[in-house]
Amino acid sequence: MSFENLLIERDHAVAIVTVNRPKVLNALSTQTLDELRRAILELKYDESVRAVVITGAGEKAFVAGADINELAVQSPTTGREHAIAGQQVLDLIEHLGKPVIAAINGYALGGGCELAMACTIRIASETAKLGQPEINLGIIPGYAGTQRLARLAGRGRALELLLTGDQITAQEAYRLGLVNRVVPGAELLAHAKALAASLAAKAPIAIRYILEAVHKGLEMPFPQAQIFEATLFGLVASTDDMREGTRAFLEKRKADFKGT
Ligand code: COA
Repeated sequence: MSFENLLIERDHAVAIVTVNRPKVLNALSTQTLDELRRAILELKYDESVRAVVITGAGEKAFVAGADINELAVQSPTTGREHAIAGQQVLDLIEHLGKPVIAAINGYALGGGCELAMACTIRIASETAKLGQPEINLGIIPGYAGTQRLARLAGRGRALELLLTGDQITAQEAYRLGLVNRVVPGAELLAHAKALAASLAAKAPIAIRYILEAVHKGLEMPFPQAQIFEATLFGLVASTDDMREGTRAFLEKRKADFKGT
């Protein structure tokens, strides 16, 4: 895979995707979004990839939002298409079936905050800043930020952030439940990679079903979501990894999961 605006690296079963437009604080142009879509699809079907880290190039930004040069000239129809395309890429990330860790190394604003929210787990550097500043441009979030922020941080906090457009610190984001962990900037990538590697060593089918049970189950009425969970629980009993995991426990050794 080679891209103009993304760097893709591999560290054993972990793929690291770096949005690489540091001159514009890694703003998501249409081309960058499209590259992200192609990269994520490729990683989805690559069975040797068990976890993904997404981060931004440079010292300053994770992603400072959609590219405002493009937003400035959008029409109603291109705006709609742009939002739908962005939502689809973020849905792909959320439904990758593998854990995706956002390593938030700086500004995660607008589309950058939305990208981070579509990831499975968010780790921020101490100096990161998050927010949905669209209101200050006279627009609204278009990559499902109104929806994911309200689900992650609650309706009242989401409305405050969306309506003020204020940037918040990593610590504040942690307090709101918007990020899972805050670590010193120098340790961020190593921390994210280590977490990704530890998740990559777990049973991939069970990982996939947990992701599915949470994401799809939350969109269902509770009794239906419970049946869905029970069905996945039953399905996982067909895997070699279930036999390996339970046997390894009883034999007091570390399980060696194969993904079958
Ligand atoms: N789209 C396009 N270009 C962007 C951008 C974006 N979302 N965010 C930053 N840039 C560009 C700037 O225009 C600037 O380009 P220049 O060097 O040609 O002037 C460059 O990136 C560096 O940004 P700058 O604003 O000079 O850095 P700063 O440290 O003063 O401020 C931010 C950093 C993040 C506070 C500021 O860039 C900002 O508010 N960006 C927009 C955030 C936003 O509204 N995102 C939501 C978009 S929907």
